[in-house]
Formats: sequence, structure tokens, C-alpha cells
Amino acid sequence: MSGKLWGGRFQGDTDPLMAQFNNSIGFDKRLCQADILGSQAYAEALFDAGILTAEELRQIVWGLDRVLDEWMSGRFEIKPGDEDIHTAVERRLHELIGPTAGKLHTGRSRNDQVATDLRLYLRRVIHELEDRLNEMQMTLVNLAEQYIDLIMPGYTHFQPAQPVRFSHWLLSYFWMLQRDWDRLEDLGRRLDVLPLGAGALAGTPLAIDRYKLAERLGFSQISPNSIDAVGDRDFVAEFLFWAALLGVHLSRLSEDLILFSNPSLGFVVLADAYTTGSSLMPQKKNPDAFELARGKSGRLIGHLTGLLTTLKGLPSGYNKDLQEDKERLFDAVDTLQLALPVLTGALATMQPQPDRMAAALRDDMLATDLADWLVRRGIPFRQSHAIVGEVVREAEFRQCSLRDLDLATLQRIHPAFDAEALQVWDFERSVEQRAAPGGTARAAVLVQIAQARALLGADKF
Ligand code: ARG
Repeated sequence: MSGKLWGGRFQGDTDPLMAQFNNSIGFDKRLCQADILGSQAYAEALFDAGILTAEELRQIVWGLDRVLDEWMSGRFEIKPGDEDIHTAVERRLHELIGPTAGKLHTGRSRNDQVATDLRLYLRRVIHELEDRLNEMQMTLVNLAEQYIDLIMPGYTHFQPAQPVRFSHWLLSYFWMLQRDWDRLEDLGRRLDVLPLGAGALAGTPLAIDRYKLAERLGFSQISPNSIDAVGDRDFVAEFLFWAALLGVHLSRLSEDLILFSNPSLGFVVLADAYTTGSSLMPQKKNPDAFELARGKSGRLIGHLTGLLTTLKGLPSGYNKDLQEDKERLFDAVDTLQLALPVLTGALATMQPQPDRMAAALRDDMLATDLADWLVRRGIPFRQSHAIVGEVVREAEFRQCSLRDLDLATLQRIHPAFDAEALQVWDFERSVEQRAAPGGTARAAVLVQIAQARALLGADKF
């Protein structure tokens, strides 16, 4: 008989390459804390069910504490037969307390165990990620408040469109991240279900009080179906979707800043601490933090599609394919645990350049304002759009700026123009016209800032 958890019916050794193929200890060791927490609670449930004596329970809990200690201090020694974290912990427990360790797995399967571990792990991680998100949001709000006076070109199709407050642009990302934050909270509700007690697939024959077990582990619900409980990785897929979409948001933010920090726009100067140089061109300062974030969004999307592809053809219940959930999950977590604070730092240290923003404002970004002015004089918008189109064409023909066209010229195009129309050539005025909620006028942006601060205050847990 081999020394394996499942060795009884096997003769001889597993092929070494097969063992390498099968083993997950290399990556699932990061579940050690969750695994041990789950096992300690399960041991108590076994005691309640009359399977363990008080002394055996004490030994198991004590032994598991030692094992956790070894993991945490880096002293845990992985041995050749340690297939995964569950096997390794039990093997070590056996070394520490002897045969009593063999009672821990009564009525439990690694199938319900690993599903429980993953949920416990992810529950902790999403709190950490919520904190990282909040820090980035806080940075965006602080910048928005500090630079409320700055006006820059707003873009559609990345063509100059209408002037907006720099703060308004910053806050557009605050709201994206707020949706990400909400989604994570939402996922928290679906994570809050305990699979333990599902056994391998059919449930447990023991008098395990699953509600009490759930309470011990801080879950408010138990899985209602044991087959579903062991085969369900929806919560991992959801997390990976969350990560992919957040990655897309970070990528878009990065793309904006790669463009804004390019010397030909020069709206911001990035700090040396978040940029790198070229080994060949001495003048270069490259926005690597943002390029990496943009690039890494690709791997986050890959993790989501990879997992969904793994899941789609599986028969019900547990299948070893599910072991493929972990590396993707852990990599998504690691990627974002790093990307979020790096981008937060890059944002907090960049230097906005008011002169460059102002220099990039072009009069034709006020063409809509001129059309709006005609609308206020009773001309239907469709018609005023066409009239201002003619004004733009005239300026193009004369190769001058819109504000250089005198009143007589405007009036030749349409008699409704009078001296007041010329007041339109003012970027501050244009921005301040957009005072409806959600717009870019100072008052409307200040409302956003207040709303954002209220949310950040409420988001504390
Ligand atoms: N390492 C496995 C995983 O990550 C644990 C569950 C193994 N279950 C089994 N029946 N072999 O999915």
C-alpha cells in the first residue's frame, strides 16, 4: 500500500511524470490558512457528531495550529508524496499527533474541502482588493478636488470634442471603479455559502450540523445540493470576470495617461518613480506602469476565458479539471494586488500641466456652444448645427481660428448673430454651461466629489 490518502486499492508507485502532472501543492499551498481553518471547524463538527472524543479534538486542533505555524514561518517541509495542500496538512498532522489524525477526514472529501478552502480564501482576498480599490478611488477624488480649476480638451473618437474639467475626466474613472467595488460586494454575497458537508458528491452520512459548521466558519448559508456544491466554480468565474473588467478599466485609464503624458500632448508629467528609461535613447521616459497595466488586462481576460472553457464541458459533480481554477485565480489576484497600488502611486505622483492643457484647447471645440447660442435665439438645433457648420467652413477657408471671424462675417452667414454671440469664445464659460447633474460645470463636479466622498466613507467595513 502506498502512503497516499487514497492508496489502499493501488499497487506500486504513480509514474513520476503523472505525479508531477497531478500535483497542485506547488500553487495550492497558498490555501494553507483556509484549509487549516476549515479543518479545525470540521473537527469540532466531528466532535459534536460523536466521532471524536474531546481529547482527540484537542489534539487535532493543537496539531493543526502547529502545522499552520510551520507554513506561516516557512518551516513547513513539502515531502514527495504531498500531492496537494490537503494531503500535505494531513500527512504532517499525522507525524505530529499520530493515528488520531486519520479521523479528521471522516465523512469529508477533498471535493467539499477544496470548494470550502477556495471560498474562505477568496472571501479574505476580496476585502484586501476592496481596500486597494478604495485607495485608488480616494486618490482620484483628491486629485479631482485639487485640480478643479483645470480645463482640458474632452475627446470623442480621440478627436477634440468639447472642453471639460480635468477633474471630470478623473472622476469618470472613480465611477468605473465604484461599479467594480459594487460588483465585488455582490460577489461576496454568493461566496457566503458553505459547501463543507457535501462529501464527495452525495452528502455526509454523519450527524454533522452544517448550519453550526457554517456559523463557525462565518458563512451565513449552506449549499442546498451536494452535487452542485462540489462542482460549482461559478464564484471563481465571477471573480475572474470581475478581474477582467477591472483590468479593462485600468487599461483604458492607462491608455489615456499614455496619451496625456506623451510630450505632444503633455497634459501630465509622470514621476520618475513610475517610469523607465531607454537603454539606447537618452531622452526617453517611458510610461511603463501604464503600459504594463494595459498589457496585463490581456492576461486577466485570458484567465476568464480559460476557466470558462475548462468548465463548459464538465459532467456534474467534481472533476479533476477543476484543479485548473487555482493558478488562474491566484495570478489574477497577484496581478491586481500589484497593479492597483502601482497605478495609484503613478496617479498620485503625476504632475498635471495647466499650460499644456490650456494650449490644447481649440476654438472649434466651442462650435457646439455657438450652435446652442442660436438655439437660445429660437433657431431649431438641426438648423443651427448647419449654420455653425458654415461658420467652421468659413474659418477653414480663411485658415483662421473661429474667434477671428468678425461679427459682419457671422451675420452674412446668418442674421440672427449679434455681438453677444462673440461671448461664446470662452472655455470657462462653455464648461460652466454644463451645470446639469452629471455635467462638467464646477458645481456639478463638486457634487460628484461630495457623492464620491460619501461613498468612500460608507465603503469602510
Ligand atoms: N487538488 C484538488 C483540486 O484542486 C483537490 C481536490 C481533489 N479531489 C479529488 N477527488 N481528487 O481540485
